[in-house]
Formats: sequence, C-alpha cells, structure tokens
Amino acid sequence: MATETKAWWKEAVVYQIYPRSFADSNGDGIGDLNGITAHLDYLEKLGIDVIWLSPVYKSPNDDNGYDISDYRDIMTEFGTMEDFDRMLKAAHEHHIRIVMDLVVNHTSDEHAWFVESRKSKDNPYRDYYIWKEPRDGKEPNNWQSCFSGPAWKFDEATGMYYLHCFSAKQPDLNWENPRVRDEVFDMMTWWCEKGIDGFRMDVISMISKDPAYPDGEVKDGIYGDLNPYVCNGPHVHEYLQEMNRRVLSKYDIMTVGEAAGVTLEEAKKYANNEGTELGMVFHFEHTDGATTAENIIGKWGYRHPRMSAIREILNKWQIGLEGEAWGSLYWDNHDQPRVVSRFGNDAPEWRVLSAKMLATCLHMMKGTPYIYQGEEIGMTNTHFSSIEDCRDIEEINAYRQYVTDHHMIPEEEMLKCFDAVARDNARTPMQWDSSENAGFTTGTPWIAVNPNYKEINTKEALADPDSVFYYYQKLIRLRHENPIIVYGVFRPLMTDCESVYAYEREMDGKKLTVACNWTDEEQDCPLFDELAGTELISNYAKHSEGILQPYEARAVLTKL
Ligand code: GLC
Ligand code: CA
Repeated sequence: MATETKAWWKEAVVYQIYPRSFADSNGDGIGDLNGITAHLDYLEKLGIDVIWLSPVYKSPNDDNGYDISDYRDIMTEFGTMEDFDRMLKAAHEHHIRIVMDLVVNHTSDEHAWFVESRKSKDNPYRDYYIWKEPRDGKEPNNWQSCFSGPAWKFDEATGMYYLHCFSAKQPDLNWENPRVRDEVFDMMTWWCEKGIDGFRMDVISMISKDPAYPDGEVKDGIYGDLNPYVCNGPHVHEYLQEMNRRVLSKYDIMTVGEAAGVTLEEAKKYANNEGTELGMVFHFEHTDGATTAENIIGKWGYRHPRMSAIREILNKWQIGLEGEAWGSLYWDNHDQPRVVSRFGNDAPEWRVLSAKMLATCLHMMKGTPYIYQGEEIGMTNTHFSSIEDCRDIEEINAYRQYVTDHHMIPEEEMLKCFDAVARDNARTPMQWDSSENAGFTTGTPWIAVNPNYKEINTKEALADPDSVFYYYQKLIRLRHENPIIVYGVFRPLMTDCESVYAYEREMDGKKLTVACNWTDEEQDCPLFDELAGTELISNYAKHSEGILQPYEARAVLTKL
C-alpha cells in the first residue's frame, strides 16, 4: 500500500516554457517574459500547477540562456526584472507556481567570475573554474565536449586550459572551491526570497568531477567520452546535501535535478524520501537508451524505437523508486524531439490519437508529470533542409565535426538525423493560431515556424472539444481529483506484449487499469472485458471487446 508522504509538488503537473519560443510581445522575433504573462489565462485553462521556466538570466546566448553571465539579472531580449516580478505575481494570481532553471555546473565565459578568473594564475577568482596545464603541449586529456570538439580550451593569457563540458563559452565551475558553493547558495537564497517556487537544476549530476581527469573511451574515433568521469562524481551528494541544508530546506519549494547519466540506484540517493537532497530527478534512459542502440554516432540516429524497450526502462523506474524516492515523468523537453513524431505517429490520420495515447500512458503513471510547451496541442518535429535551418549549437557543432571536418556522416544522412532527434525540433515557435508566423511574433521569428501551424495551433485546439488540448486538460484534472493517480502503487501488466503498454495502480481499495496500444493496428487486450468500473479517460468513444483499436488508450477505475 502507498505510504508516500504528501507534498504539493508530488500532486502537481508542471508545464515547461522555453521563453525564446513561447510568445513574442514586442515584435523582435524572440519570445519574452511579457509574452508569457499574456498567456497565463491559457495555462490556467489547461490546468497546470507549475511553470518550469528555462533560463531567463542575462546571457550572451551561445546556448540560448544556458550560458549565464549574470544570475541576478534578466536577459535583455526577454525583458527586465520588473517584467519578471510582474510575471511572477500574475502567475501566482493564476494559481501557477514558477520554478526557475538553475544552471550552475557552468557559467558563461562572459560572467564576471570568469572574466576575472582568466586574467592571471593568482587572481582571487582563479579557482572558481577548472584550469589545467597542457599535456605534451595539447589538451589535458582526450575528453569530447557534449557539443562536439575538445572539452578543453586553451587560454593565451596564462597558457593553461579550462574545462568546458558544453560549449567553449560555458566554462565549468569548480565546485570543490567552497567559495563557489557560497556564491551559488547565496544566489539561490536571493531568488527564493523573491518568492519563486523552486529550481530545475541543469546537469546537476555533473558538478563533481573525477579528480584524476583520466582519458575517456574513444567511441567515434576522434575524442574520448567524458561522461563516466563527470556524471555522479565523488562529491555530488555531499554538495547537494550542503545545498539542501543551507538553502532548500528553508523553503517549501520544488526541486528537480537534471541528472545526466543517472542510474536508478543513484536516483534513489538524489531524490531520497528523507528529503536530504532533491525532490526528484530527470533520468534519460527512456529518451537516450531507447533510441541509441542503432544510432550512427553518439546521439545522432533516426530509427524508430521499440515500445517494449521504453516500457522495460519506465517500469524498472516505477517499481524501483516505490517507497524510496519520488520520480518525474516526461516525454518532451527543449532538448528532445517532439514525442508525437518520435514515439507516436505524426501522420495526419494518427497524430491526434497517438498524441492522446502517449499522454495517457505517461500521465497515469506515478511521479510528477512534465508537459513541454506545444505538447498539449500535439506539435510535431519540423524538417531541416539544410544546416542553415539549424540554430542549436549542438547541431551546428556536430555538423561541423562529422560532416564538414571528418566526412564521417554524409550531409543528407545528418539532416535526416536532425529531423529525427535535433533539439531544434522542440524549439520552433509555439503555434498560437493560423496567422502569419503562427501568431508567435509580428516580426521575423528567430527560428522558422513549423509549416504545419495552420492545422496545429492553440486557436484550433481550443475550438475543438476533441482536441489534444482538452485531453491534456482532462488528464490534469483527473490527477487532481484522484489520489490513486498520484500516490497509488504501480504494477506492470502484459509485459510479454510487443504492442500494448499496460499497467495498474492500486490504493485504498481501488484499482486503476491502464492500457495503451502503441501501434496503428488493432491489438488483443483482454484487460477490460470483465472489469465493471468507471472509465476515467479514453481517446475512443466506443470500444470493442478483447481488443484495443489503433493507438487506443483506456484507463478504468474499479473497486477491489
Ligand atoms: C542541459 C540543458 C541543455 C543545455 C545543457 C548545458 O542539458 O537542458 O539545454 O544545453 O544542459 O547547459
Ligand atoms: Ca520579444
């Protein structure tokens, strides 16, 4: 039986906003804070409880705000601190909490700390970052940055290299330095005092590095893999416990760690029920693991993933966390392709049905669900006809490395990979209506709008009672009304079946049976035949005994 301690963030549904692509209020082609404030009615109507705001801090935008030059100021393109305060207040009036993105594994190279740090070896800020002497006149080791190329950059001023796990404009902070931790914790306290409701912590599993900095395994013939030496490092739990003692425990806030490379066993520590570290973490096993097996190089691939592989991963996490730690649930975010294109079917006849099916499959599970902007109207991947269409530094650098410099992937093949997995798929402008540029901007959008905006947009969705939007609205309402969806124990069903993802939840003498057909064909499913219960939700109005129709999803509540 469920013995979970209650918390508001366990009962909440989170909506992620990528501000650059959400709504532009002043016609410069870039989404902004006033654009968000103007759409709070829409989000309240959807019914979400929390907004996770991707970074809005001052930034030169090498990685769209994940490179921060001032943690206590707002990005010029997004507005001012007054705009932020107004948005926060308005959100609270709409019963929506705001969770900030906290990017503290690295800063921008334009942050004042780094500007100082690179000046001289004895600068007071030198040890805020990770500096190493050259090895045989070259990089200190063979690590590849997550955005291609070496993870080290040579700095003329002092003749040393600094570490950047991401772009060269994102130098890694040195968490071993207690002054760095003081600065970060002070800054977090400052935001908490402002009244924000929590933090999503960017690659927080990477803040403690293997002090030996050993070479990594060379997988693509060029550079070594840094992941084993930067993810879940020796002091990461110690640092998070310190953060918890000094900041988090003083406020009733939600925290979620983006935990690259996290295993189930590690997650139980990060998100332990004693609450000594974080509320929950994001893992990447179902998004990375389910698709990489047949990939070309690294994350670049395009084959269709198998439901049974995804199910095996998600079920393992559902069962493994039970009673020990809280989990998060997501298909989409700003780093992933669109789920309806990736795990569903974005052909016109199946798009709506499969989007609803995937939503059911995820939202009836245990954990806090996250919806990424546009997911609630079934937005799809876009198409890249040339590298000129791409804006993301990850894509641009990978193209340079694998296509231009090393001729390891032909251009057409790489663009096909981008269509399937590029992050820019998630970053095309939010589709509000069928007017020019999807109602996102009156100017020229910073990234092209997905050409399907005339059919897929919020205006259409709001006018159609059968839309994906109203289905999400219902899923959210059901979660708010039925504690079994939040706290019920999860049990897998039909695990031998290749096409139907089924499970049950149980709590207080009630059982919720969920089954989802992941294919465009009818599939056998006997689960509902003998059940005399209440159907909570389905994407079909009529059912047939013994089967699930193409992409059919059903959830039925029964008394035990
Ligand atoms: C995280 C963010 C991603 C960013 C990276 C570096 O993975 O989600 O968007 O590029 O960290 O900050
Ligand atoms: Ca703008």
